[in-house]
Amino acid sequence: MRIPPDTIEDIRSSADILEVVSGYVTMKKRGQNHFGLCPFHTEKTPSFSVNIQKQIFHCFGCGEGGNVISFIMKVDSLSFVEALQFLAQKLSITIPEVRVDDAKHKEKLALYDVTKFAAKFYQDQLSGDTGKEALKYLNERGFGEEVLRLFEIGYAPEGWDNLIKAALGFGFTNEQLKAVGLIAPNDRGGYYDRFRERIMFPIHNISGSVVGFGGRTLKSEPDTPKYINSPETAIYRKSRILFGLFENLDAIRKNEGAILVEGYADVLGLVQAGIQNVVASAGTALTTEQARLLLRYTPNASILYDGDLAGANAALRGVDVLLHEGLQVRVAQLPEGMDPDSFVQAEGAEAVKMHLNESRELIDFKIHAFTASKPIDTPQRRAELVYLLAESVAEIQDEVTRNLYIQEIARQLNVDETVVFRAVAKKRRAVRKPTVVEPAPQKATNAQAHAERDLLAILLRFANMIPGVYENMDVDELADKNHRVILSQIFEQYVNTGRVNPQHVLDYVEDPEMQKFIVNSMMEEGEIPPDALRRWLSDCLRLIKIGTIQKDIQAAREAIRQHAQDAAKLKQWNKKYQNLKKQEMEIRRKEFIALDKD
Ligand code: UTP
Ligand code: MN
Repeated sequence: MRIPPDTIEDIRSSADILEVVSGYVTMKKRGQNHFGLCPFHTEKTPSFSVNIQKQIFHCFGCGEGGNVISFIMKVDSLSFVEALQFLAQKLSITIPEVRVDDAKHKEKLALYDVTKFAAKFYQDQLSGDTGKEALKYLNERGFGEEVLRLFEIGYAPEGWDNLIKAALGFGFTNEQLKAVGLIAPNDRGGYYDRFRERIMFPIHNISGSVVGFGGRTLKSEPDTPKYINSPETAIYRKSRILFGLFENLDAIRKNEGAILVEGYADVLGLVQAGIQNVVASAGTALTTEQARLLLRYTPNASILYDGDLAGANAALRGVDVLLHEGLQVRVAQLPEGMDPDSFVQAEGAEAVKMHLNESRELIDFKIHAFTASKPIDTPQRRAELVYLLAESVAEIQDEVTRNLYIQEIARQLNVDETVVFRAVAKKRRAVRKPTVVEPAPQKATNAQAHAERDLLAILLRFANMIPGVYENMDVDELADKNHRVILSQIFEQYVNTGRVNPQHVLDYVEDPEMQKFIVNSMMEEGEIPPDALRRWLSDCLRLIKIGTIQKDIQAAREAIRQHAQDAAKLKQWNKKYQNLKKQEMEIRRKEFIALDKD
């Protein structure tokens, strides 16, 4: 699908970057800009900024930057077109259909319609005749109408093809239903509904689209699994989803903390009792992506732990991933055998809050759990505990915080600080996971590449410098393909409109490093004395041209070497070589931008 440039411009200028960003990051005004915690890297002090005048975002920590469109692309992992469609929908801008050549992409978008339809279908069933028993069950468990509606809880009735029939009747295809994991092939070449006789918990992504389902059986037969879940699909990446995050986002933001529980029912139970800042990892171990997702909205996570102390350290091991991402983690312990849902039903919200107030920091909790199960009365026990704690502390990326914990542990266990320090250092060397290695920013490999970047940076900031360059340089003199894309956009806009909007240039640049580069150029403030600017620009042009001609010279040298036996060719190439050398000398002497212009 192609979106006409006018529409792109329309979407970009109508979308307010601060408003869009605030949907993901809590932003506070500081000086000219608004600041928040960067969604693209781990940090504790906000260095992610939005500049309203320029309608761009920029992180002083990781250098990530772009406009409202690239923000959505990065934060929701969408393609350029998907991001535009998402924004267009928010802004009620219609995208004229130009040409649908990206059928795949359209297919993916349609999948959200399928899950939406299914969620609605299941919801209707729950309120209809077929859902009576399920509704009764839910009500008996204490889930009221409001909570059921908030979570769009539904019911998949008995039978093998209820959803299939309804969805096909609505115009969806078997392929689509299969692609979102709602149906599975049977051995007669047909399909059957994956979810039958189950209470349906739709799982939303952070934009509110349904991406999958968890289905709880109404039966209590040992052979029937309690839950079945949607498989991973093109729209459902389990590692990136937290159940309840979309529904409870406001409360999590306001509360400055999220409560982590294990089950769908726990989320519903707590919300029913008025505790709304809850999310669930839904049965799987926490992932880095989930931790990061949470950190976008809050730096604090409290785990409602419902096990016995003896098994605590093993059970909480997976939680270290939260520490690694920089979250503050506390653990609140519920009585053995009580999950958050059953506990809140039995004791009420105040009792839950009391346990939350009495929560301990993860490391503290681990010490507590370790000592509670068996006393630490031998050197071995103590060493064991030091190593156990070192596992968690090693995950803390902030050096100062890490050292403070080391001190604290040394104090509490009454061991030498260097002992703890060494244990942590050892773990850090051993467990350091290959954190996603960001591609290194494209380094200027030589003087020419460097000059090309400078040239573009100057033109993006000082449009009055464009004519001089336009006269003296062709796009294809640039060696770097990405640089050529930017320069041709600058020239094109300049020729067509007499000015250049860097925002607009951004729209045509797909390479993320280049997007960062453009934004960084736009972020530069301050004037440069006109003469200095011209000299700089002139130097850039010279360096670029020298770089280009040196490649030709190199090629000529190579040819001369190859044709050493061929007198005629040798003469030809020698002449060429001399010529190029002469040109090079001229370039070296020339000022491409007149210094004393007006
Ligand atoms: P629980 O057994 O604690 O479920 O499993 P629950 O949500 O509290 O449900 P109720 O109270 O028994 O109705 C915790 C989570 O583990 C996953 C589900 O996400 C569940 O919410 N799970 C559990 C499965 O995926 N499959 C299962 O068979 C069981
Ligand atoms: Mn439960």
